[in-house]
Amino acid sequence: MRNKRIVSGMRPTGKLHLGHYLGVIQNWVELQKKYESFFFVADWHALTTKYDKTENLKNDVVDVVIDWLSCGIDPEISTIYVQSLVPEIAELNIYLGMVTPQNWVERDPTLKDMAKILRTKEGANSQISYGLMGYPVLMSADIMMFNSSYVPVGIDQVAHIEITRDIARRFNNIYKCDFFNEPEPILNHCSLICGLDGNKMGKSFQNDIKISDSAEVTAKKVMSAITDRSRMRKDDPGHPDECEVAFKYWEIFADKEQVEKVRCECEKGLRGCADCKRQLGALINEKFAPIREKRAYYEAHPEIVHKIIKEGSEKARVEAQKVLKQVRELVNMY
Ligand code: TRP
Ligand code: SF4
Repeated sequence: MRNKRIVSGMRPTGKLHLGHYLGVIQNWVELQKKYESFFFVADWHALTTKYDKTENLKNDVVDVVIDWLSCGIDPEISTIYVQSLVPEIAELNIYLGMVTPQNWVERDPTLKDMAKILRTKEGANSQISYGLMGYPVLMSADIMMFNSSYVPVGIDQVAHIEITRDIARRFNNIYKCDFFNEPEPILNHCSLICGLDGNKMGKSFQNDIKISDSAEVTAKKVMSAITDRSRMRKDDPGHPDECEVAFKYWEIFADKEQVEKVRCECEKGLRGCADCKRQLGALINEKFAPIREKRAYYEAHPEIVHKIIKEGSEKARVEAQKVLKQVRELVNMY
């Protein structure tokens, strides 16, 4: 066990929300027991689109790491690091860039989407930087740096893993070796939870509940969740399946029995939506209480978080240097 490696990263988007927790972090917490795990904050990848908005970058990196630690990513068994603190990745990125045909990155669908979003945000004149074009190659360097076997990602990132496999194969062909694995994705159970308004949960839509939100804030946000829109009075019979957000949250956070009770009482008009959401808020708060407690601890002890990042990054470098040494030999560098 734990003889295979996984690598995964997140861009530093600041404080994470329940979508990240349920869709990504929970998976990682389980996977770290099974695989030798490398989890990193992709701060260079953040620069591919936000090179001109770096005021909060440092804080955002720390916030992401605090959320991971609070949710149970364990620095004793996993390596937690910051991408830019492992400069070996940048060197590997250079070698991989040389062997990657330009049209491979140009046809990367995820990159095309990112470019489209960038254009709608910044207008038709927005330029796609050389760095953004290199996104898939840099991501390949992240993964190949540790010669990992698997990469836990969301479905939107699978195209990137395909490119990584192609680059790995091409490198092996060109340098007549069998050095790099062709890594495979492990799919996250994708965004189980919608936002409070029924759309995809996201920071920029202001419909999210943050892992770091207090019990009061969480309760208040849950009260704003969409319910069965056709229901006027609290003793009208409700339709849980048309209760777009609140009932879905029940299904995520409660056990089967509880869910059935809610369904039954709702359908019979025995449960008002306000009461229902008050209970739901309490349930979510109960679940996140231990996570919040850990979060408060790390927030009060930033030096511990910095130490974890520093030590994790050093550990990652040691492994990265081993791989890089062999790559330099294979490429015949001086
Ligand atoms: N592109 C990923 C995202 O936006 C983040 C990422 C960067 C990543 N490098 C990676 C994920 C390597 C997995 C492996 O979510
Ligand atoms: Fe949704 Fe609960 Fe209202 Fe039923 S009672 S519609 S499940 S919020």
